[in-house]
Amino acid sequence: MLRRARTTKQLARRIDLQYFTRPHALRSWRFWLSVVVPVVALLWFAVQRVEGGKKTYSSGPLAQAHAVFTQQCSLCHTQKAGALFEHASDQACLTCHDAPAHHANQTSTPTCGSCHVEHNGALRLKATADAACTQCHSNLQTREGHPHFATSISSFAQHPEFSALAPGATDAGRIRLNHYLHMQAGLVGPNNARVQLQCDDCHRVKVATIDTNKAWPYSGTKAAGKDPSGQKPFLRLASYRALIAPPEFANHCAGCHTLQFDKRFGNEQVPHDKPDVVHAFLAKRFSEYIATHPSQVHEVEPPNREIPERIRPLRIATSQKDWIEFRVADAEGLLWAKTCKQCHEIQPSASSLPKIAESNITARWLNHASFDHTAHRMMTCTSCHTRAPESHETSDVLLPGVQTCQKCHHEPSKEAAEGRCFECHRYHNWSEAQPTKGRFTIPELIGSTRPNNP
Ligand code: HEC
Ligand code: HEC
Ligand code: HEC
Ligand code: HEC
Ligand code: HEC
Ligand code: HEC
Ligand code: HEC
Ligand code: HEC
Ligand code: HEC
Ligand code: HEC
Repeated sequence: MLRRARTTKQLARRIDLQYFTRPHALRSWRFWLSVVVPVVALLWFAVQRVEGGKKTYSSGPLAQAHAVFTQQCSLCHTQKAGALFEHASDQACLTCHDAPAHHANQTSTPTCGSCHVEHNGALRLKATADAACTQCHSNLQTREGHPHFATSISSFAQHPEFSALAPGATDAGRIRLNHYLHMQAGLVGPNNARVQLQCDDCHRVKVATIDTNKAWPYSGTKAAGKDPSGQKPFLRLASYRALIAPPEFANHCAGCHTLQFDKRFGNEQVPHDKPDVVHAFLAKRFSEYIATHPSQVHEVEPPNREIPERIRPLRIATSQKDWIEFRVADAEGLLWAKTCKQCHEIQPSASSLPKIAESNITARWLNHASFDHTAHRMMTCTSCHTRAPESHETSDVLLPGVQTCQKCHHEPSKEAAEGRCFECHRYHNWSEAQPTKGRFTIPELIGSTRPNNP
């Protein structure tokens, strides 16, 4: 093998010791550039000033939502501070949109610009850093009293368990429903057919019908539609969250659970309503019946084994009035003690009719966060509600815990759903928001020079 002989002497000979004393094209260019560039920049600055443009000073492009105001720095920068430029003022932000503060109990209020970072180009202004929240929530202080909430949250990774799942917490709903039984294969369905129930046979996302009557001063008195999210729909359209509508007898149970009241009427059912409505219905139907079958007044009623003896003593009617009273009492005996009681808590009341306990099905569980089923429709229901198919009691809480969410929502990475606080929480108390009145003309907003100076 041949070896190359390279000594330091040979190498040193290659270096041109006169290099810096000879003129060179590139080096003179460099000198002239260092003189010309600042001069051009200053000239450009001056021209911009003369033309009235303020873009020159900007520390970066405005967010998409504000980009149209690029020529009108003074819309936000109204607060004098130092000679060169004014600070953006909260008051200026509030002239265009209301943004009610967080909590009456907060000890300080950060400025708008500290959370909504401007001059960062196309970034979503709403996508605030966790530090905007953890500056308080990693060591929560309150103006008055003790904090009502977890006091040390520094990231979603060490977020506390949701309070709905605290030990001992129960579902306060009063409609009896055994999920385990209803999810069995081969359940008896309508017309004795064997069926397999699916979660969405009873649970579907409801999209609110927006009732614009709600907030208009000259509207009628028509009761406004209830918004399950509890937010003012006309203000918060963008953040409306889709909840699952509470199950209803008429849509989800009636196909299998019928409300028959007397064999004389075949499959006819009582209305699913308050006991006094049911009572009035029964009185009317039996009156109509006996008017067309008067001979039955004196017939002895065969015992109905479905009705407990205690409730239905053997009685013989002497008049149509008696007959109606007895038959209504029989029917009610069956309904209150068996039919309605299967699903309801029947409470005694001062009147002769019992009271049906309020159903009290929770429409929204997580009042301090926003969860949206629509955003998770790619998953099976039981991947989050793992306990539902095994639950026997209404009082069981079937919601997923924080660990389920943490599987996908975590620290920013390519393989994560958004894990910062703003994804699940509101900062502003939007229930206090007022609509703002527009105050600016078009030239005041976009600058009068722009059309000629694109
Ligand atoms: C939509 C509101 C808005 C508009 C319009 C706007 N800014 Fe800003 N600007 C802000 C906010 C918010 C900050 C950060 C808070 C502050 O002022 O310290 C900021 C900061 C700045 C800063 C840094 C100030 C400092 O003290 O650190 C400069 C420089 C600046 N803006 C220039 C401009 C210029 C020039 C324009 C017009 C081309 C402009 N801004 C238009 C909202 C705005
Ligand atoms: C001249 C009126 C005007 C001023 C002043 C103004 N904004 Fe806006 N802002 C708008 C408009 C218009 C939109 C877009 C429509 C909307 O979403 O309401 C918007 C949108 C936003 C959004 C939502 C954008 C997003 O990415 O989803 C935030 C947050 C916001 N502004 C914060 C601020 C803050 C903070 C200030 C003060 C530094 C400010 N705005 C000053 C008019 C204004
Ligand atoms: C200036 C301090 C401060 C900042 C900043 C702050 N919070 Fe709070 N937060 C509080 C206080 C105080 C309470 C109420 C504590 C109490 O009454 O027990 C609270 C309550 C809450 C609650 C529970 C009550 C509710 O209203 O739902 C949530 C959730 C919450 N904050 C989330 C956030 C998020 C998300 C951010 C960031 C976008 C944030 N906070 C920024 C001080 C702050
Ligand atoms: C036959 C109708 C029916 C079917 C089918 C059904 N549910 Fe329910 N579900 C109800 C009723 C009624 C309630 C309200 C009573 C209660 O709170 O248990 C309820 C309540 C719930 C709740 C909220 C209450 C809590 O304690 O967390 C969840 C979550 C739920 N169901 C999930 C499911 C899932 C998941 C499935 C499918 C595996 C399912 N359900 C199938 C009728 C049904
Ligand atoms: C198969 C179960 C089932 C049976 C049987 C049933 N209900 Fe209901 N009932 C429900 C469900 C589910 C709701 C809650 C949603 C709704 O309004 O449909 C409800 C709600 C009610 C309410 C409103 C309660 C409130 O929240 O204020 C009344 C009143 C009522 N039922 C009366 C009756 C009467 C009277 C009977 C017997 C004739 C009866 N129900 C039989 C399932 C049942
Ligand atoms: C597909 C038919 C079907 C639907 C829909 C249905 N059920 Fe049932 N349910 C049944 C059958 C069948 C039984 C009786 C099972 C048994 O006793 O063996 C039953 C039993 C019950 C029981 C008694 C459970 C027990 O543990 O003894 C209650 C309470 C009940 N259903 C409530 C409801 C409610 C509330 C709804 C509507 C939200 C509903 N069911 C919808 C078929 C249905
Ligand atoms: C993936 C969704 C998600 C993210 C991200 C998230 N949270 Fe939560 N957080 C929730 C849910 C759900 C609850 C339960 C709300 C309820 O009980 O009404 C909650 C509850 C809270 C509470 C009330 C706790 C209590 O004691 O009841 C506070 C305070 C809170 N979060 C702050 C934060 C802060 C600060 C961050 C960012 C570091 C954050 N959260 C990130 C979903 C989230
Ligand atoms: C990503 C997890 C996740 C998936 C998937 C999911 N849920 Fe939920 N579900 C939740 C959370 C969290 C809540 C509590 C929301 C609230 O009320 O604030 C909830 C609440 C509910 C409730 C109570 C009513 C309500 O809206 O609060 C029902 C009923 C329910 N889910 C049924 C279903 C059904 C049916 C499916 C499948 C179509 C499903 N869920 C899929 C997480 C999930
Ligand atoms: C299988 C992964 C997965 C799980 C588990 C999951 N999420 Fe999500 N979530 C997503 C995806 C994907 C999105 C939509 C994209 C995004 O915002 O990053 C989303 C969006 C959201 C949003 C914003 C919805 C919107 O429309 O703005 C909230 C709030 C949320 N999730 C809360 C939760 C909570 C609370 C849990 C736990 C009960 C949970 N997620 C569990 C994947 C998941
Ligand atoms: C502690 C951080 C923080 C401060 C301070 C803050 N915001 Fe926000 N802001 C948020 C977060 C987080 C959201 C998104 C969640 C929500 O709607 O509350 C938001 C949402 C908004 C939106 C709604 C955007 C939309 O289209 O839904 C506007 C407008 C807004 N802020 C303006 C302001 C103004 C004006 C100020 C000053 C008065 C301000 N914010 C102060 C964190 C903050």
